[in-house]
Amino acid sequence: MQYSLSLHPTLGVKLPAAGVRFRRLPVSAIAAPPLRSPVTHSMPPEKVEVFKSLEGWATQSVLPLLKPVEQCWQPQDFLPDPALSSDSFMDEVRALRTRTAELPDEYFVVLVGDMITEDALPTYQTMINTLDGVRDETGASSSPWAVWTRAWTAEENRHGDLLKTYLYLSGRVDMLMIERTVQYLIGAGMDPGTENNPYLGYVYTSFQERATFVSHGNTARMAKEGGDPVLARICGTIASDEKRHENAYGNIVEKLLETDPTGAMMAIADMMRKKITMPAHLMFDGQDPRLFEHFSAVAQRLGVYTADDYADILEFLVGRWKLEKVEGMTGEGRRAQDYVCRLGPRIRKLQERADERARNMEKHSTRFSWIFNKEVAL
Ligand SMILES: [Fe+2]
Ligand SMILES: [Fe+2]
Repeated sequence: MQYSLSLHPTLGVKLPAAGVRFRRLPVSAIAAPPLRSPVTHSMPPEKVEVFKSLEGWATQSVLPLLKPVEQCWQPQDFLPDPALSSDSFMDEVRALRTRTAELPDEYFVVLVGDMITEDALPTYQTMINTLDGVRDETGASSSPWAVWTRAWTAEENRHGDLLKTYLYLSGRVDMLMIERTVQYLIGAGMDPGTENNPYLGYVYTSFQERATFVSHGNTARMAKEGGDPVLARICGTIASDEKRHENAYGNIVEKLLETDPTGAMMAIADMMRKKITMPAHLMFDGQDPRLFEHFSAVAQRLGVYTADDYADILEFLVGRWKLEKVEGMTGEGRRAQDYVCRLGPRIRKLQERADERARNMEKHSTRFSWIFNKEVAL
């Protein structure tokens, strides 16, 4: 069989493009060896001091990007109110079901994948707490890094809750399979290649929060076009949280570039060489060992999150951090700068070639357990 390969927007690995039927792998395939070399604690120990010295700055410049609980939206603001009489509550549920009735199955595949990604939040808090110098040492530490991480988690926690309840009420998805996928995913964890290194960790989160901002923004637009303005508002509201979080993480990296330009630039280049892997890359539903690739292929085809978005985010961050203008670096730092600043056009060129090959392939599809094993084109 002739394979057409495309640069995967999220895994950053080469995947068979549309037109290739995925070989069914045994379930044991999920117990594959780690995806990356197990490098740990790659930040030189003395650099812990950088984060210690930035605590005052973090308190002044990062924590204000959190929203006080009383000013935050809650899932209940968007959901049928269970305090209503049974009849009125059922009317609200019926209205929700009517609104979602016209949205296509493939839209639900992407929304479910996004929801599952949000719902594996324990993994992300764990991941951030692997980072040297910024982890929450006690579980209730007063360090601004730890305060941020806990409050960020608490804000994020509303995303999965809201999407999951909405999907449940819609009746369009197989909740049992979704719940199994969440359990598998939290059990599997994630492997972003951040090596306990907060330089790498905050580059990752800057990129990742922008990626979720983009994808929730796109599911909002599609919900609106598909006839569900409430779901559009839900996805849009979640997107604006992601944007605020992206600003916070982006500010941290900006500050690191100012404090330690070589270290920060090399961290950006390192993460880009590894490619930014989406947090849910180890998802599994007990049936499809290539579930994440299939979900990503649908997200790519619908334009919810694409290889172009990946390049856009990279170029956005290069501009936001003014990477071309960073000075005062060692030779290594300058080489990292050169690599990162030229990467956008290279990714786009690779993608163009892959797209052209993909166009010549015949279309294929797969079944998703999340939507009762209905078939969706990839
Ligand atoms: Fe989120
Ligand atoms: Fe987020």
